[in-house]
Amino acid sequence: MVEVLVTGGAGFIGSNFVRFALSLHDDWRVTTLDKLTYAGRLENLHDVMDHPRHTFVRGDIADAAISGPLVERANVVVHFAAETHVDRSIREAGAFIRTDVEGTFVLLEAARKAPELRRFIQISTDEVYGSVASGASVETDELRPRNPYSASKAGADRLAYSYWATYGVPVVITRASNNYGPYQFPEKVIPLFITNAVDDIPVPLYGDGLNIRDWLHVLDHCRAVDLLIANGRDGEVYNVGGGNELTNLELTHLILDTLGKPRALIRPVADRQGHDRRYSLDTGKLRGLGWAPQVAFSDGLREAVAWYRDNPWWWRPIKEQDAAFKAYYQSQYGGQVQPS
Ligand code: NAD
Ligand code: TYD
Repeated sequence: MVEVLVTGGAGFIGSNFVRFALSLHDDWRVTTLDKLTYAGRLENLHDVMDHPRHTFVRGDIADAAISGPLVERANVVVHFAAETHVDRSIREAGAFIRTDVEGTFVLLEAARKAPELRRFIQISTDEVYGSVASGASVETDELRPRNPYSASKAGADRLAYSYWATYGVPVVITRASNNYGPYQFPEKVIPLFITNAVDDIPVPLYGDGLNIRDWLHVLDHCRAVDLLIANGRDGEVYNVGGGNELTNLELTHLILDTLGKPRALIRPVADRQGHDRRYSLDTGKLRGLGWAPQVAFSDGLREAVAWYRDNPWWWRPIKEQDAAFKAYYQSQYGGQVQPS
């Protein structure tokens, strides 16, 4: 059996990856290590919690007493765990430094001592390149992160690289673009806008709405990680992009049109501080290994809209009963986007 440790497996991408990995690989035993922060939820793993080849461990990656032994007996580590929301990092960066930088350091230290470890996937992000005015980022480009989230991820990205260069830890780094799909916490733009619009609540579009993101279906990201576990080269970085660059305004129109909701629901609000204008990835290196995105954005977005519309059991408790989420929403958006 292949022992696979997935950190952050109760979050959005991690839970999709755990489900994907268990169904694809009969010879993998998957351990999920997750602190269950506000963004981590056992509901995301509801259908695999009792899977015979899956074990869930609640714990902090930065707690070496918990994470160390799990890393030391792993053959593969896929490190998703992170604080991930840019807006929260702008309000309070401390948790981002502790988890994204220090937590990664703790895992890498354990990885140095792991006798059977053959792959450590560091899940980084396209945001480490910073805002890209024109063209597309290649893996050798300079990193110019511009907010506390992307800076902490850049720190982790380079720290992971250094553990390959210095100690020979078999690190492979992925830099993916914005993911979308089921189980994404409804603070991120796509699930936030879908779930607001379902209830005819305005959707808060930052600034002029012309910032550009490249959208990648979460399962295409999972397929890339799976490929890199097998075929990635130690010490290398791979961009993972969907090739679907849209302005936020275009994206919002698509969401509202898919739901049959009026564009009058768009509520322009104050821009995010330091808002990166555009991300764009050259994915030639990963495509050279045989990967290509399989989900057309039009299909993936329609399916995602349908998933949130049809699974209110998953998001209504967060948006309507979770006092911490309600407090965050109120302080982030104030009275600007309440039910009309
Ligand atoms: P998420 O916020 O949905 O999930 C993060 C998970 O990590 C949660 O389950 C949380 O409980 C867990 N976690 C946080 N701190 C922890 C700690 N100290 N110890 C253990 N677990 C902890 O995030 P996501 O969108 O699934 O992102 C996963 C990874 O992918 C992150 O590393 C993120 O930087 C990266 N990434 C995300 C995107 C995207 O569009 N979502 C794009 C590129 C890269
Ligand atoms: P987000 O989902 O937070 O991802 P990231 O900041 O990591 O790219 O935001 C995606 C884009 O949507 C980004 O340009 C900011 C914008 N946005 C809004 O316009 N309104 C919102 O309420 C949110 C959360 C994001």
